[in-house]
Amino acid sequence: MEEPEVRESKEIFSHISLRPLELSDVDDFMVWAADDRVTRFCSWGPYTNKEDAINHIKNIVVPHPWFRAICVNGRPIGAISVTSNSGDDKCRGEVGYVLGYKYWGKGVATRAVKLVADTIFDEWPHLERLEAVVDVDNIGSQKVLEKVGFLRDGVLRKYFIQKGRTRDIVMFSLLSTDPRT
Ligand SMILES: CC(C)(COP(=O)(O)OP(=O)(O)OC[C@H]1O[C@@H](n2cnc3c(N)ncnc32)[C@H](O)[C@@H]1OP(=O)(O)O)[C@@H](O)C(=O)NCCC(=O)NCCS
Repeated sequence: MEEPEVRESKEIFSHISLRPLELSDVDDFMVWAADDRVTRFCSWGPYTNKEDAINHIKNIVVPHPWFRAICVNGRPIGAISVTSNSGDDKCRGEVGYVLGYKYWGKGVATRAVKLVADTIFDEWPHLERLEAVVDVDNIGSQKVLEKVGFLRDGVLRKYFIQKGRTRDIVMFSLLSTDPRT
């Protein structure tokens, strides 16, 4: 099946929705998950075969408490998730997102993160802080978060090992009480 047609920014914007990602979406999932331009700053991927992608969807995506496909006209072009914590850390959750390369630069990620920021605190009332951990070199992702109203908490040095390299990250946060853009 062909990928959804690339539309002009304004047109694509009104067709964006979020829904659960299913096993039957594996071919659309592979479009971004097999692309090393997309997975460069991710802890996973790129997936080089469909079987690995199927296992990822089965074992990670489907059981995940809040994982959504970012869709244009119902077809997945990326994904966004919120991972919550438990016990004394349950006040905070972490948002993560990826988008197929040919949809970059059209405001899609900003729109998707805003949709999440506008709903997640109502959906999960225990959540007081939504945070995002972004590589210092991932300027696009930092801009997305700033546009939605996240604050830059600071840089955490040598925070985690990503594909063999220990990385500095920027910690961003949005509180349930913060003003939104
Ligand atoms: C990061 C990512 C999600 C951004 O998605 P996107 O839909 O292209 O972002 P938007 O179009 O909403 O862009 C928001 C702003 O960032 C800017 N921007 C986007 N990518 C950029 C880049 N690589 N360098 C500089 N600015 C960039 C846009 O120009 C826009 O700013 P503007 O409104 O002032 O013009 C996308 O590039 C991606 O999927 N990257 C790979 C996965 C990833 O890094 N995920 C985040 C992990 S924390």
